[in-house]
Amino acid sequence: MPAPLALLLAGLTLFGMPVDAVPTQRFQIKPFEINLSERVPHMLDLIRDTQLPSSEFVAARESTNGTLSTGISLETLKDLREEWITSFNWEEEQASINKLHHFTVNIEGINVHFVHEISGEPNAIPIILLHGWPGTFLEIVPLIDLLALKSQLEGETAKTTFNVVIPSLPGFGFSSSPPTKAWDAKDSARVFNKLMTQVLGYRRYAVHGTDWGSDIGYSMYDQFNTTVRALHLNFLPFSPPTPADIAARNITLSPGEVIAEQRGVDWETGGNGYFVEQATKPNTIGLALYDNPVGQLAWIGEKFIIWSDPRQGTGPSVLTHKEILREVSVYYLARSFVSSVYIYAQNPNGFVQTDYSNVKARTDAPLLYTTFEYNIGFWPEQYVAAVGNLVSYKFREFGGHFPGVG
Ligand SMILES: *[C@@H]1O[C@H](CO)[C@@H](O)[C@H](O)[C@H]1NC(C)=O
Ligand SMILES: *[C@@H]1O[C@H](CO)[C@@H](O)[C@H](O)[C@H]1NC(C)=O
Ligand SMILES: *[C@@H]1O[C@H](CO)[C@@H](O)[C@H](O)[C@H]1NC(C)=O
Ligand SMILES: *[C@@H]1O[C@H](CO)[C@@H](O)[C@H](O)[C@H]1NC(C)=O
Repeated sequence: MPAPLALLLAGLTLFGMPVDAVPTQRFQIKPFEINLSERVPHMLDLIRDTQLPSSEFVAARESTNGTLSTGISLETLKDLREEWITSFNWEEEQASINKLHHFTVNIEGINVHFVHEISGEPNAIPIILLHGWPGTFLEIVPLIDLLALKSQLEGETAKTTFNVVIPSLPGFGFSSSPPTKAWDAKDSARVFNKLMTQVLGYRRYAVHGTDWGSDIGYSMYDQFNTTVRALHLNFLPFSPPTPADIAARNITLSPGEVIAEQRGVDWETGGNGYFVEQATKPNTIGLALYDNPVGQLAWIGEKFIIWSDPRQGTGPSVLTHKEILREVSVYYLARSFVSSVYIYAQNPNGFVQTDYSNVKARTDAPLLYTTFEYNIGFWPEQYVAAVGNLVSYKFREFGGHFPGVG
C-alpha cells in the first residue's frame, strides 16, 4: 500500500528536521550491482524437478480461510511454481533492481548492502526504512518514488522529499550475516545508526520499521536519541495485547479495529508455528529449505499471501505473484534463507510479553504509527503511546503486514 504509508511518513516534516550531510572518510562505500545470474540455471532445474503431491489428498483436506488456513494452498503453490519457470525472468528483475543505486560498506565486520536514493531537494529528510522476515529490501522499493520524488504532506500543499536509505538486514539478501552468535536487534540498530551518521554523514534522520525492522527501529529510537529524530512504525516489538487486556482497559474498538484484533488473535492461535520453529530449530528449517526453492516458496509465499490484505494485487497494492517470486528468488539466490531465520533464535527478547508500564523509549523524538487492518498484530493507540512520544496514530482500512507492497 505505497501511497498512504508514504503520505504518513511525509508528516515527519512537521518536526522540521535539519538535514546536513557531512562526508566521511573512515568507511569505504562501494557501488554494488546484483549479479546472481550464475545461480539461476540450478534454481530453475530444482524448480522444474520438484514433485508436488497429487491434488486429491491435499485438496480434500486443506482449508484456505485466511490466517487460520492450513497453509499455502496446493493450487496456489502450483500456479506460483509454474509462473516461476515460464513467465518469471530473473534477468529482467535483476536489471530492473540494478537501476537503483546500490552500495555496500563494511561496518563492524558486516558487509552491509543498502539502496540510497537522494531526492535532490536541499531540505530532504534522510530516512532509513527497515524490512523484516520474510521480507527483503525489495518490499520497500515501491515507496522510493513516493518518498524521494513527490511526497506530499496530507492536508498541506508543501512538498516533502526524503533521502531514502533501504538496507538489507544483516543475514538477509545482500548483507552478510552477523559476525557473532550473540547478535541481536540492538547490534543491528548500532550498525544502522553508524550507516546513517558515520558512513552517510547525516547528523539527524528518521527511521521507519516493520516486523523485525520495528524491533531494530525502536532500538535505534531508544538508543540514539540525538540522531534518530523521528520514528514511524506499523508493528511494535512487544507482544500485542489480548482482547481481554483491551477490554480490561475499557478500550472500545471500531469495526475495522475488531478485524485487526481478530487477525492478531488468529496469528497467536493458528499462525505462529514458523516463529517457534525459527526461534528454536533454525538449523532444521534453515538447512531443509536452503537448496529447495519450491520449499522456500511455500514457506515464504504463504506469509506474503496470508499476512497481506485479501485484496492484494489490486487497488494500491502491488503484491502480485511476480512480487512474491522476486522476494523468494532473492532469498534463494542470495543464499540467505538459513541466515535469515536465525534472527528469531538470536532475538529471544523480540516481541516479548510486557504490560507496557516500563517500555517507554528514552527519547523526546516524535513517534508516528500506522495500523493496517490486515496486519497480523494489533496495538490500540493507548499501547503505542506507552512506548514513545506518539504524535500520530492512523488506522488504514487497506493493507496488511507488508504495507510497502500490499
Ligand atoms: C554476471 O556474471 C556473469 C558471470 O557469473 C557474467 O557472465 C555476466 O556478464 C554478468 N552479468 C552482468 C549484467 O554483469
Ligand atoms: C474463517 O475464519 C474466521 C476467523 O478468522 C471464522 O470466524 C470463520 O468462521 C471461518 N470460516 C470458515 C468457513 O471456516
Ligand atoms: C472500566 O470500566 C469499569 C466500569 O465502568 C470501571 O469499574 C473500571 O474501573 C474501568 N477500568 C479502567 C481501567 O478504566
Ligand atoms: C537520551 O538518552 C539519554 C540516556 O538514556 C538520557 O539521559 C536523555 O535524557 C535522553 N534524551 C532525551 C531528549 O530524551
